[in-house]
Amino acid sequence: MNDLTSVIAIDGPAASGKTTIGRLLAERLNYLLLDTGSMYRAVTLAALRQGVDVADETAVTHLAQSITIDIKPAAAEQDGRLSTTLLDGEDVTWALRDPDVDAHVSQVSSYAPVRREMVRQQQQFGQRGRVVMVGRDIGTVVMPDAPLKLYVTASAEERARRRWQERQEQGHNGGYDAILADVRRRDEIDGNRQHSPMRPADDALIIDTTDRGPEEIVAEIMLVAE
Ligand code: DC
Repeated sequence: MNDLTSVIAIDGPAASGKTTIGRLLAERLNYLLLDTGSMYRAVTLAALRQGVDVADETAVTHLAQSITIDIKPAAAEQDGRLSTTLLDGEDVTWALRDPDVDAHVSQVSSYAPVRREMVRQQQQFGQRGRVVMVGRDIGTVVMPDAPLKLYVTASAEERARRRWQERQEQGHNGGYDAILADVRRRDEIDGNRQHSPMRPADDALIIDTTDRGPEEIVAEIMLVAE
């Protein structure tokens, strides 16, 4: 791969399989994986912990501008994480998956000035090259010149089933129906928000993972990427 192809942009809705595909591609190509959703989650977690009202856009924006978020390779940790996220130096990788963060992150990520700050940090990261960036607006806003853009999707039912399974494995309980309702609610917010709504870039490859496993899909993408 030459320099022009050193950023792979992957977008798509929650639990579509985009992060798994991103991880496999990053491993095969020896690229870094940047899951940009964890940055919006880190802002949300900081707000919840510091008692900042997530409905207060100005306060959440100040917070987003004042905290330090670092994303590093998973390194020595062997607990299933894909990368490590530090919030002001503290490892919050698993705290970011808390249902309370899930419940508020769409609202936090709908604020334009919060997005501006995250996009600025993500673009700095992208300039280093050799990175697979996963999110909702990577191909459309963050890295519009990325030579390879993927939009990964799956049916809402299949995505809810995957989230339900993940939750069970992490020891959280919760019914499938509630998870399906949450998946649909977040699709609605992420897809219809005023600023950078989730949508495929015009030149993105659309990949449906409803009935296909990540290995098979990644093998196909590698043919295009190499
Ligand atoms: O991928 P995720 O579930 O960790 O994303 C968490 C939230 O952040 C989700 O509501 C969408 C939002 N998000 C975004 O708006 N832009 C991104 N680039 C990544 C995530």
